[in-house]
Amino acid sequence: MNKNEDLLKRREIIRLGGGEEKIKKQHEAGKLTARERIDLLLDEGTFIEIDDHVKHRSTYFGLDKKVFPADGVVTGLGKINGRNVAIFSQDFTVQGGSLGEMHAKKIAKIQDMAMKLGIPIIGINDSGGARIQEGVDSLYGYGEIFYRNTMASGVIPQITVIAGPCAGGAVYSPAITDFVLMVDKTSKMFITGPEVIKAVTGENVTQEALGGALVHNSKSGVAHFMAKDEKEMVEMVKKLLSYLPSNNMEEPPLSEPVELQADPSLNTIVPEDAHKPYDMLEVIRRVVDPNSFFEVHSKFARSMIVGFARINGRSVGIVANQPKVLAGVLDIDSSDKAARFIRFLDSFNIPIITFVDTPGFLPGTSQEYGGIIRHGAKLLYAYSEASVPKITVITHKAYGGAYIAMGSKHLGADLVLAWPSAEVAVMGAEGAANIIFRKEIKASKEPEKTRKEKIKEYSDAFSNPYVAASRGYVDTVILPSETRKYLVKGLETLATKAESKPSKKHGNIPL
Ligand code: HXC
Repeated sequence: MNKNEDLLKRREIIRLGGGEEKIKKQHEAGKLTARERIDLLLDEGTFIEIDDHVKHRSTYFGLDKKVFPADGVVTGLGKINGRNVAIFSQDFTVQGGSLGEMHAKKIAKIQDMAMKLGIPIIGINDSGGARIQEGVDSLYGYGEIFYRNTMASGVIPQITVIAGPCAGGAVYSPAITDFVLMVDKTSKMFITGPEVIKAVTGENVTQEALGGALVHNSKSGVAHFMAKDEKEMVEMVKKLLSYLPSNNMEEPPLSEPVELQADPSLNTIVPEDAHKPYDMLEVIRRVVDPNSFFEVHSKFARSMIVGFARINGRSVGIVANQPKVLAGVLDIDSSDKAARFIRFLDSFNIPIITFVDTPGFLPGTSQEYGGIIRHGAKLLYAYSEASVPKITVITHKAYGGAYIAMGSKHLGADLVLAWPSAEVAVMGAEGAANIIFRKEIKASKEPEKTRKEKIKEYSDAFSNPYVAASRGYVDTVILPSETRKYLVKGLETLATKAESKPSKKHGNIPL
């Protein structure tokens, strides 16, 4: 065998990962292999693999006699829709994709390259966690990755795909990244597995119930997207990237401008009866470019909507109360959800469009004990800190602290637009009348009639956008059907926005 043939032979072994038997098992489990995932995700023929000849150097527990092709992780550079990305994909067929010293070094190297090149990094996780035989070297490896995740945060987009197990401390790399996608049925994330939980607490729980895709998309909020299979996962990653710049020094990519007629159906979307909800998703869809809305965290904290969209070809981030769910109330999870999304948008120069219809913060001991004060504060902080163009549209209720928190003028919104149905007030007319006219209502011969009169009195005075507009807190009142026109013009004008903030190392967001 000459040297060239030797290389080809080596390559063949590396490409086969853990071997045919293990690949078969991987497919039977409903999973693609590390290399198949890369092939599916990257533009054809663009992948440049690096470190494919890397070998572990551990000698414990017979590891010196074991060869792990590519040390269980495929790393390299390639393109998605013509744009450069860095990628790593753990190979479960090789010792369960477990992470040892050299496996980690490969990931760290590709993280460093992504930073140097200013390109997004995509990490596909499918691993049994720390390679147990390598002991503390595995821990070193994770630490190096976490550190780089943190350094890269806000510099390049970091996207994690969970395509198999991701357990123990390994979960913290995904958790530091910007977006986590999980694949239904096959992906799992947990700190401690069912066996440990059983031993420590006696509780019986399955892996799926503990940390499956649905759990992390709907309950914990750890994951932002749930794909039904790996093919859908790939489409989601591509779509997500289409809204993002490659790094924090770039502007997001522009798409073709879209000419749209005003949508008169918006003029009647907010029901006259304040108790009747409507769907804010409908408002969003009728205002943004057709089919451009891509919801993030769609199953989590559903009284808040966050997602990407395009308006006349420009990438924007949407943050909106959802009156259909808990009347659009702000609670611990919805505050966290919006705050983190806003910080992502601001890091990557994506304007923030806010739609407001919220009655306030959710009352109750569970919220107070859970720290709604601390969590709600994140939302105020994130809006105040964001220096990208911020446009707010108040469609209906904007009450009390929640009015301030939802991208108000006071937190630096550049343009606050209100619909005629907007109610910018300290609280709803009913609640307000019951408090301030308590004595009159009690003393009245017809308390119910007086109550109604007082509600009307308060409502006439404050349940409208004009008091706020008279103070300049609302920049102007627009017909709902004019919303898109104002957003298009507003975004165009605000594109040159430059705002300087006090110089500091970093702020201390109430975490
Ligand atoms: C070494 C591992 C491994 C690991 C799996 N393997 N996990 N080898 N270190 N962590 C090996 C298995 O021995 C097996 O080798 C092969 O990978 C495939 O694993 P199976 O068990 O056959 O696969 P499956 O039945 O699908 O089960 C997958 C699994 C299970 C649920 C992930 O393997 C598992 O529980 N592994 C251990 C998980 C764990 O406790 N990891 C350490 C967590 S602590 P053979 O040779 O038989 O094919 C941690 C700390 C990180 O990660 C801290 C960071 C701060």
